Amino acid sequence: MSQRAMWVVGNWKQNHLPEAALTTARAIADGLAGANGGVHRVHVGVAPPYLSIAAARTACRPISDLWLFAQDVAAQDAGAHTGEVGPAMIAQAGCAGSIVGHSERRADFGDTDALVRRKLHATLGAGLHAILCVGERLEARDAGTHESVVISQLSAALSDLPLELVTARLILAYEPVWAIGTGRTATPEQAASMHRCIRGWLAERWSAAGADRSILYGGSVKPDNAGALVAAGDIDGFLVGGASLEAPSLLAIVRATASAPSHTP
Ligand code: PGA
Repeated sequence: MSQRAMWVVGNWKQNHLPEAALTTARAIADGLAGANGGVHRVHVGVAPPYLSIAAARTACRPISDLWLFAQDVAAQDAGAHTGEVGPAMIAQAGCAGSIVGHSERRADFGDTDALVRRKLHATLGAGLHAILCVGERLEARDAGTHESVVISQLSAALSDLPLELVTARLILAYEPVWAIGTGRTATPEQAASMHRCIRGWLAERWSAAGADRSILYGGSVKPDNAGALVAAGDIDGFLVGGASLEAPSLLAIVRATASAPSHTP
């Protein structure tokens, strides 16, 4: 029986210039190095702005448990694409992978389902981790169509993904748009229920390989609600925005995640 990986990844969004990125990443790396026991079963990462990835990487040397991610990635590796940063570039910069399809990219920067799919395939195809974000807007939650919205996002991004890319480095993140940056968190029951729905969809397509994927929750996760969320079951950690900007709160979320019972599919 395999055990799903637990993750806590901080999405710094458009925050932390290099100096702050270095200080914060160093404090997180030091906190992880000094932590004991179960904390080490949680994979911890941060996604700095591109400009600050190199500085954050310095904090991770020579050896650290802290993973680096990009917040977004281009669908192509190189060429005449002004403003873009592709999978090979983020890998070269020291990132283990990228967030893909964050709702802010979808809503504010024109990331359509089709583009999200291309970015996801390019990232996984380059041997990197991809954290695919899905989540419904408030109207869909109120109308009771939240599951079908999320399934249509999953289906657009993943339907024809070859099995070897599913099993490689695919991580899912359920982030209800109405909970992001609003202080309004999904209840543990709402989150766990959507995670079961996502896992069911993955299992239908790829059996155990699909069901084994880590599914993170994101949306106003804080040190004081992380424990209840992760205890609800089927939640394999978190994608954290605001509460990841300071090392102590991110580390507190990591400890809360580590204290959850082991998840076995
Ligand atoms: P938040 O952001 O924790 O600030 O709500 C989460 C995210 O956007 O990934």
